[in-house]
Parts: sequence; C-alpha cells; structure tokens
Amino acid sequence: MTEKTSNTMWGGRFEMSPSEIMEEINASIDFDKRMAREDIAGSKAHASMLAAAGIITKDDKQAIDKGLDQVLGEIEAGEFEYSRALEDVHMNVEARLKELIGEPAGRLHTGRSRNDQVATDFRLYVRGQIEKFDAALASLQRSLAQKAKENAATVMPGFTHLQPAQPVTFGHHLLAYVEMFGRDRGRFQDARKRLNECPLGAAALAGTSFPIDREKTAAALGFDRPTRNSLDSVSDRDFVLETLAAATICAVHLSRFSEEIVLWVTPQFGFLKLSDRFTTGSSIMPQKRNPDAAELCRAKVGRIAGALQSLVLVMKGLPLAYSKDMQEDKEVAFDALDSLRVAVSAMAGMVEDMQPVPENMRLAAGYGYSTATDLADWLVRELKMPFRDAHHVTGSIVALAEKNACDLGDLPLDAMQSVEARITQAVFGVLSVENSVASRTSYGGTAPHNVEKMAGDWLTRLESEPQAG
Ligand code: ARG
Repeated sequence: MTEKTSNTMWGGRFEMSPSEIMEEINASIDFDKRMAREDIAGSKAHASMLAAAGIITKDDKQAIDKGLDQVLGEIEAGEFEYSRALEDVHMNVEARLKELIGEPAGRLHTGRSRNDQVATDFRLYVRGQIEKFDAALASLQRSLAQKAKENAATVMPGFTHLQPAQPVTFGHHLLAYVEMFGRDRGRFQDARKRLNECPLGAAALAGTSFPIDREKTAAALGFDRPTRNSLDSVSDRDFVLETLAAATICAVHLSRFSEEIVLWVTPQFGFLKLSDRFTTGSSIMPQKRNPDAAELCRAKVGRIAGALQSLVLVMKGLPLAYSKDMQEDKEVAFDALDSLRVAVSAMAGMVEDMQPVPENMRLAAGYGYSTATDLADWLVRELKMPFRDAHHVTGSIVALAEKNACDLGDLPLDAMQSVEARITQAVFGVLSVENSVASRTSYGGTAPHNVEKMAGDWLTRLESEPQAG
C-alpha cells in the first residue's frame, strides 16, 4: 500500500497506490466492461475526428484504429485481461492500446475526458438495449395478436374486482396486452429520441480548447446531434432514468399478465394449460405443475422498479457536474435491463405455449349472473325504462335467481314478471354469454367480429415491424 506504484493513467502527482478498500469501492471494471464495444466505437470516432481536424496525425489515427481493432478482437475472443487497478473500461482499453501501439495511444485522450466518454458509452449501450426491446416487444405483440385472432370468439368471464362482471372473449383480453406493450414501445422510443444526442467533446465539464468537430463524432456514432451544454452533457443521467421508468411500466404490464396466467392455470380456474416447457414439478408432490416462469415474470418488476428508485436516489441532490456517485448508475441499470429482457422473452414463450380451455372459460363466463347488465340494457331498450330503474329491477331479479339457486336464464318468465310485469319471452335472447359478447359491438368492445378485425389490423401493422434478433 505504501509502495510507489501510482496509477499510470493519472498518477503524476500521486506517490502511493490506493488502499485495497479504495480500489474495491472505486473500480467499476467488473461491471462496466460490458460497455467495451461502445467504448471502442467512441474512441474510434473521436480519433477519426481528431485526425480530420488536424489535432493528431493521420498516422497516429491509423495506429490507434488498428490497435483498437486488436483490443476489440481480444475482448471478443475472451483473451483480454482486465485490471482492477486500471479502475474502469475506459482506462483498461487505453492502457492495452498503449501496450500495443505505444505513444499514439497517449494522444487519443486529447480533448476528451472519462466524463464525456462514460456518458457517451452508456448512451450507446442504453440505445442498443432500447432497440432490442423494441424488436422483442414487437414479437411478443405478434404472438399475442395471433392468439387473439384464433380466440376472437372464445368466451370467457371479464372481471372487475376479480368478480365476474361481464362476459368478454379471450382474444379481447389478449389484445388489451397488445395495447399495453404498444405503449411500452412508444415510451422506449420517446426515451431514445431524447437520449440520442452525443455528449462526446464536452470533455471534463467545460468543453475543450482544441478545435474539435462535435457534429462529426455525433454523426459517426449515429447520434442525431451533439448535446448543447457541456455541464449538462457530463452530469445528465435522465436517459437512464427515463429508460428505467419505461422498463418499470413494461414490467408492471408483464407482472399483471403473469398474475393472470398463474391464476388461470390453477385447477380452480382451469382457463389455460401450459406445457412442460414452461412449468416445473415439485420434488415432493408428484401431481404438481407449477407456473414458475409466470411467477418469475411477475416478480421481475421488483428489481426493475428498484433500479429506478435506486438511481433516482443516487441522482437526487447531486451538484453539477460529474460526481463519482454516478458510477452507481450502471449495475442497477444493467440488472434491470437484463431482467426485462428475460421477462419479455419468457412471456413471449408462454404466450406461444399456452392453450386455452374454452369449455372452462365458457362455463365460468356464466357464473355470477354475468349477463345481468344485458338484462338491464334490454329493459332500457325494449321497455324504455331509465337505466337507473332498469338497474334496480334487474337487481331484484338477480336476488330472485339467487334465492332459487339458478342462473338468470333458468328463471321462469312468470318469476321475472313478478318483478316487472312487462318483461316478455324475448328477454331470454340476451341472457346467454354468446349473445352478450356478440352485442358489444361498440368501437373497442368485445364482440368477436370487432376482436377479429382489431387482431387483423394489429397483425398487418406488426408485419412491417423489426423482427427480434
Ligand atoms: N467509471 C466512471 C463512471 O462510471 C467513469 C468516469 C470517471 N470519471 C472520473 N472523473 N473519475 O462514472
């Protein structure tokens, strides 16, 4: 600890090497090495720009380029030796470049700092993740819409308060998630739009005196433009917060659907079957088939929302510009984005795998007087009753059915007429669950015809979208 082995990258004024615990708390290489590709891409863009602006020579640029390619090759081959003493991915890459090409490596850091470098790398990384999510969510939407189309007329109970409310179709229920994942994709795209500005060239915090060309590096890295304020460039982590917020909402959607899957594969519901591919057995209870994938998808939101919370708290109250606190952005974000990726893929797998059990859904759709609203609507339509009165009359008829322990459709006509004398035989036409769903033809309603059309529209729209890689 006392020997004179100060950091070769910044140790000019240092005599001692850091204490062990300092190295442990300070080093980020164990996790930020996953941004090595982005770091090298950023360095190449920077070197090209420096050469084009006459800040370094073409020969230096060529040596740097070649060296960086070799470093990338070593990383991809798993041969790169990362060093904690070199703290982070930026200095690990640069130090290896120095070993490979000598002096020109030292010119690469002209007009930049690790502060704008890390901001650039992380933006590139998050942007790549957003692109993957977009494709993965599109493919999940496709699977859902396909299943919805096949089940446009599969009647199931619709719930409010998890109590039978009105019959709907399974296809309609699935399309509700297609909508949610569509909004999730929109949120990720919004985050991407704001994220896509290049901080490279902000240097440590104040910009640089070298005649750099920020437009050029921004374009080379696929950014729309350079960021406008150097202080903001190095201290902003909104792009991570925003992406984690989008990820959290998406995870909430996955969690809600997972919960339904967990419920629906129970013998009590029996609406769905999942195959061996997405279930596990019990080591003690031979009969068990557990929906572990759905349970884990349901749980992932915990870490993802936790990551958002964690970074909000890290960023809160940080003075401008860069503070080392911000290094704490990566582990939680990596973990959250990894978790979301697994959850989206597992959900897509389950959607493909799940088999509805239409007879159980149909049976349950009739429980709990689920067509009572249809009866009330009939009274309004046929007898011109105000809806509030019809609601009251229907309530009394339901109470009567309850007393007779029968369904609404099985109540004799004279029993209904004892509540409202003008009811006729025709009322039975609206009391079946099939007729109930078929009558819900309002835009966005559950009528099978609507559902089939909506599912078809989605499929057409999704066909022209990127496919998951
Ligand atoms: N590893 C650092 C991070 O992730 C890189 C930036 C370090 N900058 C500095 N001035 N120490 O934030």
